[in-house]
Amino acid sequence: MKLKYSIIISLVCSFIYSQNNYFIPGKEWKDTEGVHINAHGGGVIFVSGTYYWYGEFKTAGPEGNTALKGVSCYTSKDLYNWHNEGIVLKVEEDPNSEITKGCILERPKVVFNKKTGKYVMWFHLELKGQGYDAARAAVAISDTPKGPFKFKKSYRPNKGIWPMDFKDEFKSASGNESNLKSWSPEWLTAIRNGMLVRRDFDKGQMSRDMTIYVDDNAKAYLIHSSEDNLTLHISELTDDYLDFTEKWRRVAPAGHNEAPAIFKKDGFYYMITSGCTGWDPNEARSFKSKSIWGPWEALGNPCVGKDAELTFHSQSTYIFPVQGKKDQFIFMADRWKPDNPIDGSYIWLPIIITNGKPVLNWFDKWNLLDFERN
Ligand code: GAL
Repeated sequence: MKLKYSIIISLVCSFIYSQNNYFIPGKEWKDTEGVHINAHGGGVIFVSGTYYWYGEFKTAGPEGNTALKGVSCYTSKDLYNWHNEGIVLKVEEDPNSEITKGCILERPKVVFNKKTGKYVMWFHLELKGQGYDAARAAVAISDTPKGPFKFKKSYRPNKGIWPMDFKDEFKSASGNESNLKSWSPEWLTAIRNGMLVRRDFDKGQMSRDMTIYVDDNAKAYLIHSSEDNLTLHISELTDDYLDFTEKWRRVAPAGHNEAPAIFKKDGFYYMITSGCTGWDPNEARSFKSKSIWGPWEALGNPCVGKDAELTFHSQSTYIFPVQGKKDQFIFMADRWKPDNPIDGSYIWLPIIITNGKPVLNWFDKWNLLDFERN
């Protein structure tokens, strides 16, 4: 009898002990099976009482930066404890598939389309063996949030379409731009004036680091690093979220922004981005606008305190609202480990708006109750 009780007590204790009650940024984050969560460059949505976290499933060793499995999904009721739902978009064995095993598949983001009742996943795709040259946006679709997602297509957005309000005078090159020295003031001016938009006009605009944002009126946008990562593009999606409407605009031309993440509060759109230093961290930037189409006002580094100049050794990936809590947003970022990508960790921090600017403070350990107290 005694033995029975002690087994039950130890099971209850181990259950309580294994529950996560806090976010501990940058540390190992065990799923409900005790394995470090594997969902990098991810995004989170909320569906009928459950959060879904989608991300890049990385594997050990440097080749783990390429997609050898696909996109993973985890579910949670409380944001601390996540159950592994497996791979919801699988890379394909067929060497001719655009998402063949060994391609680069980054920053998957899933959104729900109310009109079609489908879950739509967008991600950054690089074709196998071509480095980061393809720079494509890719889309997959599913009937349920747990997948399986079916790959539809990948391409470069806005082929043959000028951005909104692009001046006629910039639709053709002025002088001999191709010989300008990179980063010279003349070169920067040429970039701002659309030199790379013109270069990519016929083949479509580049789409590398990206996010998807769904507005209150259900319009959705792909926000993507384009023009050799020098300029962000905001491209409106069609009503089914499977294509582009041809309405697009440039943000911060020649500003060199990657890793965009967006949220909206009190009628203002806020965007947090990073600079461009590959897997190495750099200083984050923030922007604010009254309209998704801009003008976006640059507000500088949202991080404060120790290691603020390196975004606490991480790079932004997504921002989402906590359900049922007014104005609580969580900033998600990745601390990459390119030599053994599976060890990459997650930096989740609360965002507060102070004096009209987003602010990110570091916490070694925090939970949503701390958030409420602030
Ligand atoms: C980062 C980017 C990552 C990945 C990496 C490759 O700047 O944000 O998603 O593409 O470069 O070096």
